Amino acid sequence: MTTATADDLPVLDPLPLLKGLVSLRKLTGMYPPGHPAIVQKLDEVDGAVRRHLLHAPGDGVDIDVIHGDAHLDGLAFRRDAEADRRILGELAELGIDSVHIDAGVTREELFALSEFLWQIRESPSDRSTDAALAGRGIRHVRLGKLVALDTRWRSQRWADGPADVADPAYAESLDLMQRTFDDVAAGRSLERVMVRHIVELLVRKVTRSSAALAQILAVKLYENLTYCHSVNVATLSLLIARQLGFDEAATNAIAEAALLHDIGKTRIPLDVIRKPGALDRRERRLMEAHTTLGAGILIEIDGLDTLTPIVALEHHRGVKGTGYPDLGDGAVPHLASQLVSVADIYEAMTGARTYQEPGLPEQACLVLARLAGTKLNTALVKAFVGAITLFPVGSVVRTSRDETGVVVRTRSDEPLHPVLALVGPDLDRLPGEVDTSVRDGAGAYQRHIVETLRPPEGLRLQAFLS
Ligand SMILES: [Fe+2]
Ligand SMILES: [Fe+2]
Repeated sequence: MTTATADDLPVLDPLPLLKGLVSLRKLTGMYPPGHPAIVQKLDEVDGAVRRHLLHAPGDGVDIDVIHGDAHLDGLAFRRDAEADRRILGELAELGIDSVHIDAGVTREELFALSEFLWQIRESPSDRSTDAALAGRGIRHVRLGKLVALDTRWRSQRWADGPADVADPAYAESLDLMQRTFDDVAAGRSLERVMVRHIVELLVRKVTRSSAALAQILAVKLYENLTYCHSVNVATLSLLIARQLGFDEAATNAIAEAALLHDIGKTRIPLDVIRKPGALDRRERRLMEAHTTLGAGILIEIDGLDTLTPIVALEHHRGVKGTGYPDLGDGAVPHLASQLVSVADIYEAMTGARTYQEPGLPEQACLVLARLAGTKLNTALVKAFVGAITLFPVGSVVRTSRDETGVVVRTRSDEPLHPVLALVGPDLDRLPGEVDTSVRDGAGAYQRHIVETLRPPEGLRLQAFLS
């Protein structure tokens, strides 16, 4: 288990800053400058901006609102609370979908920004936003105006599945799962024997292969289609179950439920699932229905574990009874559903979609830590981060000696000091391994991991893990 748990790590939620800006804007419209309500709110916003800038020295703060969720530096901070969604909606109504604040921003600029935000609604002008901000002396803030949302998004085409799958059991699981999904999508019934076989492959082989785990845990540079996501989520769920010492029967049940948690997506039109832009209300409702549709499909199949339809139904519900579908009474989801949720969120964040660059493992762990206690079960998040560590197998990292390496082994007693294979100038693997947990004569670590890197283009991860 990790000693420094992810709970201790600072994670900045962009919402208070956005909320502050939205409130300040309203106060500016209601009261004269210098009014105590404005001064107080301005203090709050200024404080929030400074905190963010402290975490991103040099780069400034980048907040985007995509799909009704705030994204900080590209990472989604999902919102379940209606009030939070309203705040984000208000910004979107102003035509603002991204806010970039550079270091050096002054309190006066923030006040001028709130005046500007008030006036664009009351008296919109034809001037470009940049020119309007500059005209008010705002030099450290840029606003992204939402024109046609769907066309604005980079809709990157990723390959439809992982290339270079070195582990044969993982390759076979992906293949069988794709066939299972195709069968169900075509209206044929689910092959229970096939599902059992995949579970067995995952339990016995995939979870024990570092080549496979590396591909699942690392940044995934391919369109994360549901069959692939399902195999990955099941593997990650197994890691959590193992970390918690679940017995064989419980472990197998978790794997089956995780494999089929999104089976309801076979009933959702592919163009909605792959839509590169914002979902409208109808599409969102349709998408959310994959939970009830999935449970409906699974409940009809004899011989599945009783947990399987329950997890399909509940995996988007939080531990406090938020999320969807609304089951009334704020019912707390089953522990198995809570477990699969942790794996599901990590997997989705580190996977690429037409509308999403994949996030880094370390960032995904930090987001899980932030969601612990409110949406996710804290003990399960700890078990997950403990099992994979902050720098999981397959992560590309930079060390304090300015070396680039691929994590080839992790140790639960040294979660921040994995074993690396170093990357050479031609992205080749240098001979030997570097154990970052080695200390010098005085007891200090010889190296630290400084940061996780996006895998350089052309790096063949599998060459480092065989
Ligand atoms: Fe789902
Ligand atoms: Fe999922």
